Amino acid sequence: MTDAVLQIETLSAGYGRFDVIHDISMSVANGEAVALLGPNGAGKTTVLRSIMGLIRHRRGAIRIAGTDVTKMPAHRVAKGHAALVPEGRRLFLNQTVEDNLRLGAMRHRRNPQKVQELLDSVFELFPVVERHRHRPSSALSGGEQQMVAIGRMMMNDPTLMLLDEPSLGLAPLAIDDMTRALVKLRQQGRSILLVEQRVDLALKVCDRIYVLSDGRIIDEKRTGELGDDGRALIDAYLG
Ligand SMILES: Nc1ncnc2c1ncn2[C@@H]1O[C@H](COP(=O)(O)OP(=O)(O)OP(=O)(O)O)[C@@H](O)[C@H]1O
Ligand SMILES: [Mg+2]
Repeated sequence: MTDAVLQIETLSAGYGRFDVIHDISMSVANGEAVALLGPNGAGKTTVLRSIMGLIRHRRGAIRIAGTDVTKMPAHRVAKGHAALVPEGRRLFLNQTVEDNLRLGAMRHRRNPQKVQELLDSVFELFPVVERHRHRPSSALSGGEQQMVAIGRMMMNDPTLMLLDEPSLGLAPLAIDDMTRALVKLRQQGRSILLVEQRVDLALKVCDRIYVLSDGRIIDEKRTGELGDDGRALIDAYLG
């Protein structure tokens, strides 16, 4: 695929000497949103950490927009190739919302105009984040904090956006807000790889899904082939 933003070929990776993902091949096309689904411990986070260069023990190939990042150190991958919203958000809770956002834009620090544009785009997507911009992040609800974490990732303006279970721990209404925001992000033409346990959310946001189980990709489908709630998929693999 020539317009692939992410191309992973026969990737194996793990911790210590042990592989937890085995021979994974997957892709994300330009402007496509793709979900990586699978049960706890399947290796979803390990895939994202491999892409970010955070795991040293890895074999195979990872290319982002044609650039081979397989052996690239994490700080170089973070220079615009990919940015991650990590599992559990990891905000600096005693710093303000705006300071957390600006941390995401470190690579643009010599370009204040760019930083301002990115800040404006985050505030446009998440008006509630703008309202709280001067408050400490600890004063925000879980859903609002997750929006800040996504905003911080957007501030990097990466080629590829990676999100690790953004719905985790959120109340149902906050999940609805999150879903709408992710749909908008996709409509902006961003290339997204979304790890989720909420299949319904993934189906609303994504064009395609992969199912990961025990470190292997066991299925791949276009979301159009699945029902709105993905019941058959959940029953087959995730129930
Ligand atoms: N830092 C680590 N050191 C050793 N083993 C790890 C480490 N992190 C994860 N593992 C193991 O790797 C496997 C895959 O973990 P991973 O976190 O990628 O799964 P996951 O699909 O993201 O699960 P979850 O849905 O619970 O977040 C698990 O067996 C886990 O115990
Ligand atoms: Mg995980």
